[in-house]
Amino acid sequence: MLLRMKILVIGSGGREHALLWKLSQSRRVKALHCAPGNAGTAELATNHPVAATDLPGLVALAKAEQIDLTVVGPDDPLAAGIVDCFHKEGLRVFGPVAAAARLEASKSFAKEFMVRHGIPTAGSSTFSDPEAALAHCAKAMYPLVVKADGLALGKGVVIAQTREEAETAVRQSMIEKVFGDAGNTVVIEEFLTGPECSIHALVDGTGYALFPDAKDHKRALDGDLGLNTGGMGTISPSREVDGAMQERIRREVMEPFVRGLAADGLPFSGMLFPGLMMTPNGPKVLEFNCRFGDPETQSLMRRLQSDLLDLIEATIEGKLSSVTPEWDDRAAVCIVLASGGYPGPIEKGKVITGIEAADSDPDVVVFHAGTALKDGMVVTNGGRVLGVTALGATLEEARTKAYAAADKITFEGKQLRRDIGG
Ligand code: AMP
Ligand code: GLY
Repeated sequence: MLLRMKILVIGSGGREHALLWKLSQSRRVKALHCAPGNAGTAELATNHPVAATDLPGLVALAKAEQIDLTVVGPDDPLAAGIVDCFHKEGLRVFGPVAAAARLEASKSFAKEFMVRHGIPTAGSSTFSDPEAALAHCAKAMYPLVVKADGLALGKGVVIAQTREEAETAVRQSMIEKVFGDAGNTVVIEEFLTGPECSIHALVDGTGYALFPDAKDHKRALDGDLGLNTGGMGTISPSREVDGAMQERIRREVMEPFVRGLAADGLPFSGMLFPGLMMTPNGPKVLEFNCRFGDPETQSLMRRLQSDLLDLIEATIEGKLSSVTPEWDDRAAVCIVLASGGYPGPIEKGKVITGIEAADSDPDVVVFHAGTALKDGMVVTNGGRVLGVTALGATLEEARTKAYAAADKITFEGKQLRRDIGG
C-alpha cells in the first residue's frame, strides 16, 4: 500500500516554493504545509503564520497538523537547532543537527574541518582578538578577504584591496559589532581568483548524492557590478564543470568531506552546498552551506526528474548509497525579479501583474519569493520577489524563454539582471 505523507516545508523564499513544487509531483504526498510561506506556496500548500525561527511554534505546528516529515529551508533555524528540537519530540525532519550546521554557521569551524581533512580552501588565520587581527592586516599581502565568523545575512565578507579597507572591516566586525556576535571572531584569508560555482550534494553521514552544478550571480547589477545580494539568478549546468571536473570535485571535496565526518564523529544529514572557486590550482571551497541554495534550488528542481521525497527520505534513513537521482539534460535558467532598491531598503505592497501570462509557456515556471496576497491580489513583500525559471535544449534557449517570461511580469520598481547565464 502506498503510504501517503503530510509534509511541512519551513521558509518563505523561492527555494521553498521550488521544493514544494517538486514535492507536489510525488505520488506519496498527501498534503503540503508551509511556514510561513508566500503567495506562491499558498497555491500548493496550506500556509501557516509561524516564523522560520520560531522553533517552539514550529514543533507545535508539526504536532497539531500531524506532519510526517518536515523539510527545513533556511540556515538560521538549522543553526539554532531546529533539527535537534524536532528529534527530541520524536518528529521526522530533514536537515543537519546544530553541531553539523556549524559548518555553515561558523567559518572558523569550517576552516578547521577543511584543513584537518585536506579539503582545498584558501589559506587563512582566525582571530578573536581585534588587536591581533589588526596586526595581521599590517603585514599582510593585498588583496585579502575578511570574513565574519558567523551568519551575517550574506554581508559578512569583505574583499579588502588595501590595508585600510581590511582594518575598517576588522573594526566594524569585531569592535563596532555591526553583525552582532556573529562578527566577534573573524577569518582573514587569501584572495583567490577564478569563476565560482555552486555544488549541491545530499549527505547521509557516510554516503552522498552529488547534484549537477549550478551558478549563481550574486552581484546586484549586470557585469557583476553593484552590491552583493542573496543571488540574482542561476543557471544549471554552469560552464565551469565538465565530467572531469565533476570527478575532481567528488575526489577532492566530497570524499574527504564524508571521511572527515566519520573521523570527527560529526553527524551530518541533509543538504551540503559548498560554494567553490575554480582557481588555476583547481577547485577550492569558499564556504560550506548546510541547506539548499537560493536561487540555485529553483534551477535544480526544474531539472530533477526523480521523486524529491524519495531522495529526502533516503537521506534521513542513511540509504543514499542505493539511490541515483535522475536529471533532465536540458539547461535551466532562473531570473530573479527584485524590488527597487534591493539589496538596500525596499518598499513592499506593490501589485504584481503578468505572472499567469509568464507561466503560460510550458517550459516556464514562476516561483514566488517575497510575495503576499492582499485583497485577492499578489503584491511584493520582500527584496527578491519572484524567480522566473525556464528549461531549454541549450542554455541560450532557456535564457531566451526565461527573459521573455520575465518581461511579461510588471510591478513598480521591478529590477533584474539582463546577463544571467550570458
Ligand atoms: P562566502 O560567503 O564565503 O561565499 O563569500 C561571499 C563571496 O565573497 C563569494 O561568493 C566570493 O565571491 C567572495 N569570496 C569569498 N572568499 C573569497 C576568497 N578567498 N577569495 C576571493 N573571493 C572570495
Ligand atoms: N545563492 C546563494 C545561497 O543560497 O547562499
